Amino acid sequence: MSGAHVPVMVDEVLELLDPVPGACVVDGTVGLGGHAERIAERIGPSGCLIGIDRDREALKRAARRLERFGNRVQLVHARLSFLRDAVAGSGRSHVDGVLLDLGVCSIHLDTPERGFSFRADGPLDMRLDPSAGETAAELLSRLTADQLAGVLRDGGVPNPRRLATALKHHQPIDTTRQLADAVRSVPQRRRRHHPATLVFQALRIAVNDEFGELETGLVAALDSLRPGGRLAVLSYHSGEDRRVKRFLAEEERGCICPPEMPVCGCGRQARVRRIGRGRAPSSSEIGRNPRARSARLRGAERC
Ligand SMILES: C[S@@+](CC[C@H](N)C(=O)[O-])C[C@H]1O[C@@H](n2cnc3c(N)ncnc32)[C@H](O)[C@@H]1O
Repeated sequence: MSGAHVPVMVDEVLELLDPVPGACVVDGTVGLGGHAERIAERIGPSGCLIGIDRDREALKRAARRLERFGNRVQLVHARLSFLRDAVAGSGRSHVDGVLLDLGVCSIHLDTPERGFSFRADGPLDMRLDPSAGETAAELLSRLTADQLAGVLRDGGVPNPRRLATALKHHQPIDTTRQLADAVRSVPQRRRRHHPATLVFQALRIAVNDEFGELETGLVAALDSLRPGGRLAVLSYHSGEDRRVKRFLAEEERGCICPPEMPVCGCGRQARVRRIGRGRAPSSSEIGRNPRARSARLRGAERC
């Protein structure tokens, strides 16, 4: 999202979810309400939109943006992994659509006190819910060099072991600038991304257990969809997109018996039909909103 909170691939998301008047849709990462606003317009006064976010500040801003829709919109402070509870809390057993627009938004990257960005100095926090869990500084100080190398590797950082050793050597690291300086002290080959970008992203993923949340959230989203209901997921890096792609492929396959089994013994049925094979934003959208650059949209219909 840019500073103007432009929702990414919003027309493609609407085409995929196809929310009709009266539909009930969950926006599992409502953020600043950009996608939610367009969905709320489509579902009309008889529809319902359940907007979830683990960040109270994002929810406050979404509430302002979505105020005009009245009680068509319900906002819930929760994590994706509790999506089923949010649906049950609205008095429904199933919904017609679920959108997951992963990662962080402009309030995180543009607020130095939240500690997500190395472009300005601030405390090394990175919690999407600042009322819960360990900060990035605490995580860095607690992990051994080996464990830290694992976190960096999972986040796609090249040379994770060398960097982890250097970061442990630079302890204590309490601010975003200290972390960026410590990363810069390790000679790196020139790459597409600034080395600190990937290190910050890897730590953010670990601090917020983003992969665990995504995997549990995807299962909860499918469980909450009625047959024929649609799921749309926007991811912003290969670690996320790979998980979404694998999950949808497995759920589409159904039977997981070894190929040598003459008859199916697992009884597993396909739970989704994938819609397309993943879409990227148009070059004109990337020109208008550079944050859309890395987006991948995947979708599926519940069987
Ligand atoms: C890319 S932004 C969403 C932007 C939104 N679609 C819009 O148009 O304004 C992602 C949001 O997801 C939230 N988020 C990330 N992981 C979450 C999780 N596991 N549970 C709930 N919210 C999460 C973040 O706090 C952030 O507000």
